[in-house]
Amino acid sequence: MTPRGKFITLEGVDGAGKSTHTEWLAETLRGYGVAVVTTREPGGTAFGERLRDLVLHEAMGLDTETLVMFASRCEHIRQVIEPALARGDWVVCDRFTDATYAYQGGGRQLGVARVAALEQWVHPGLQPDRTWLFDVPLEVARARLADARSPDRFESEGAAFFERTRDVYLSRARQYPSRIHIVDGSRDIPTIREQLRAEIRALVDAAR
Ligand SMILES: Nc1ncnc2c1ncn2[C@@H]1O[C@H](COP(=O)(O)OP(=O)(O)OP(=O)(O)O)[C@@H](O)[C@H]1O
Ligand SMILES: [Mg+2]
Repeated sequence: MTPRGKFITLEGVDGAGKSTHTEWLAETLRGYGVAVVTTREPGGTAFGERLRDLVLHEAMGLDTETLVMFASRCEHIRQVIEPALARGDWVVCDRFTDATYAYQGGGRQLGVARVAALEQWVHPGLQPDRTWLFDVPLEVARARLADARSPDRFESEGAAFFERTRDVYLSRARQYPSRIHIVDGSRDIPTIREQLRAEIRALVDAAR
């Protein structure tokens, strides 16, 4: 029987560098002979990508926003994540439920209880095997995004929102230290990849 694949998530505030490393991570894993699916949230399915477009650009209440995140996630798990893990593929996902704790729970101040209730409903038995949290200070994130593109509903929030979001991420990393590893995202890309390469190697070795 093929062993179940590993579920890897990339987290961090906007501009921290998640997307910069997603495909590189997948290629590095493939170099070890691992089959990999890369995906993202919100989105990851045709249905979820339509929800992504709505939630990033349309005004809506906080409860609605949170429910949309989990509606997208629910379909993503059903259609993509669980089937991939079950057939032994590894899944590298750009954002998952830690992002809902950080952005809706922290940034928008919904608190943890409602996010936890939805997490318990939508994926009671599923947690990432490894989460890399890209952590950067506000100035670094802002400088990077300024060059990148026009801001969405989250990227256009102010400094206090950013700090609340970052704080929840960091406190979750302290709460789940064996799952969530912090990556200092303000370093240059080759230095970050040195850290990641060593950790990937250890994950692959542990899975064999
Ligand atoms: N370590 C780094 N040093 C310098 N620039 C970087 C670094 N990492 C990423 N960048 C640049 O910063 C910008 C934002 O990076 P990226 O898109 O990977 O962030 P992200 O975490 O995916 O953000 P978002 O949540 O908004 O999608 C990009 O232009 C990218 O090229
Ligand atoms: Mg990105």
